[in-house]
Amino acid sequence: MKNRVCELFGVRYPVVMGAVSQDPVLGAAVSEAGGLGCLAGALVDPAELRNRIRRFRELTDRPFAVNFPIVLTPEKQIEEKMRMMIDEHVAVVITSAGNPKLWTKFLQDGGCKVAHVLPTLYHAMKAAEAGVDAIIAEPAESGGYRGEHEVSMMVLIPTIRRALPNMPLIAAGAVADGAGLAAVMALGAEGVQLGTRFIATVESGAAAQSKQLILAATDTSTMSAEGRVKPRVSRPEFAEAVLGERKQVQMGQVSALITEILTVKDVMRSLIDGGLEASQAATDGIREFVPQIV
Ligand SMILES: Cc1cc2nc3c(=O)[nH]c(=O)nc-3n(C[C@H](O)[C@H](O)[C@H](O)COP(=O)(O)O)c2cc1C
Repeated sequence: MKNRVCELFGVRYPVVMGAVSQDPVLGAAVSEAGGLGCLAGALVDPAELRNRIRRFRELTDRPFAVNFPIVLTPEKQIEEKMRMMIDEHVAVVITSAGNPKLWTKFLQDGGCKVAHVLPTLYHAMKAAEAGVDAIIAEPAESGGYRGEHEVSMMVLIPTIRRALPNMPLIAAGAVADGAGLAAVMALGAEGVQLGTRFIATVESGAAAQSKQLILAATDTSTMSAEGRVKPRVSRPEFAEAVLGERKQVQMGQVSALITEILTVKDVMRSLIDGGLEASQAATDGIREFVPQIV
């Protein structure tokens, strides 16, 4: 296997689930389908988190990740939760929204792989200095926490790839199908992290209203929320038109591309089969202009 993300995480496909669920059912479906399932660990009580990790293991024997946005994890719980990752032999810990120097080495010394989610080249250099095993780069379009930054996928991935040629690099956000996978791989990523696409699946226990908003969204239905971490959310006027309520529900711009609820397996199939098709179409399109290759 040449793909460094697959090799690092021990998975068949370089497809990581974003931290969109505190329930192991969706994550286990992603791991079973060959990706890296994920459990959102920041806001779950520590004893309950341990139960959910154990439940995850009952559902699948494949690797999975637990995610902690550092600044959103209650300060009193963070050390206990980090120790738990080691005690429970969690394969991958994904940290975000905070300083990667705080926990990376501690977790690695305990046997966990560590990936850090970040929104700019500056943060990527800091994560590399902290010694992370992989970088998950999250652009302005994504449903995640971008702070003040609005760097687009088209710029974020190549700038990080140029600066850190040997770093396993995963593109988070704005990907819902094979064309997205092919595009970020062309930019220099070796894998993807999907949040919004996995919320809109059969296996996802997300609120019916969230799924309804994702299916109804167009390209202008989301905006950047205010506050400390600034996630992307539904525009209140859009939510009002769809649900009759002005709500800000966290979701990526990519919701504009999601028009049906699929099984996790079908999402995975559309990424891989559609990715091959899209990259072939792009190759054919470019080849037309290079007579000496034809
Ligand atoms: C509802 C929701 C909750 C999320 N919660 C977290 C979280 O707790 N920690 C984190 O690092 N990212 C979180 N994210 C970001 C995802 O992990 C992922 O990077 C992002 O959704 C990718 O963008 P996409 O939605 O366009 O696929 C969340 C995203 C959504 C939509």
